[in-house]
Amino acid sequence: MEYYYFKSYKEASKKGAGIIASQVILKPNSILGLATGSTPIGTYKELIELYKNKTLNFENCKSFNLDEYVGLNHEHDQSYYYFMHDNLFNHINMKEENINVPDGMAKDVDKFCKEYDEKIDREGGVDIQLLGIGSDGHIGFNEPATSFSIGTHKETLKDITRKDNARFFKSLDEVPTHAITMGLLTIMKAKKILIMACGQGKKDIFEKALHGPVVPEVPASILQFHPHVYAIFSEEGCN
Ligand code: PGA
Repeated sequence: MEYYYFKSYKEASKKGAGIIASQVILKPNSILGLATGSTPIGTYKELIELYKNKTLNFENCKSFNLDEYVGLNHEHDQSYYYFMHDNLFNHINMKEENINVPDGMAKDVDKFCKEYDEKIDREGGVDIQLLGIGSDGHIGFNEPATSFSIGTHKETLKDITRKDNARFFKSLDEVPTHAITMGLLTIMKAKKILIMACGQGKKDIFEKALHGPVVPEVPASILQFHPHVYAIFSEEGCN
């Protein structure tokens, strides 16, 4: 595991973008695993700058997002499809047909999840997977005690996760109760992983995940068994 520590969120974001940039430069048709939340916004800003100054070209890249709320459509401003377009895709030259975000409106969720994993496998697997971490140690929406060996699936969100995310909604009641998420197995199959956390509120859980016991109660702890992880922490928060 390569661990990077920064005081400033901007410097941490630059490092995160640099790691993704080197992946895209070395393999222009990279498969990028992307994440939502406050943490990666700075990294996406840096990637947009690198695209604008012609350092990066995303024309041949494909992406698979980690997760999506069940019941929110693409137009909903809290859907992760909307977030990704707002914070990244609308500002770079990734082709819409190469963008994959789980479908929160899927009629047959189990079928959708199975096909999502199959599509990732067909594309040759994720080259680098970006992750944040939840206060409860979740990655994607894999909440504590989720099986380590599960693929993309529907997850019931813990109260702490819904409360954490309520800041983006008008009220707690509006926060969806379920999400479709890549499973821990799907995440672990990525060739490289970049996990980022920022601010004091995430410090303890980040340390616990990366250096504590590997247990399903701390889903991110499984990353200790991954052969190629970059971990970036910034003292400064991102909110
Ligand atoms: P955050 O969320 O980046 O908004 O802190 C991370 C997560 O819950 O995975």
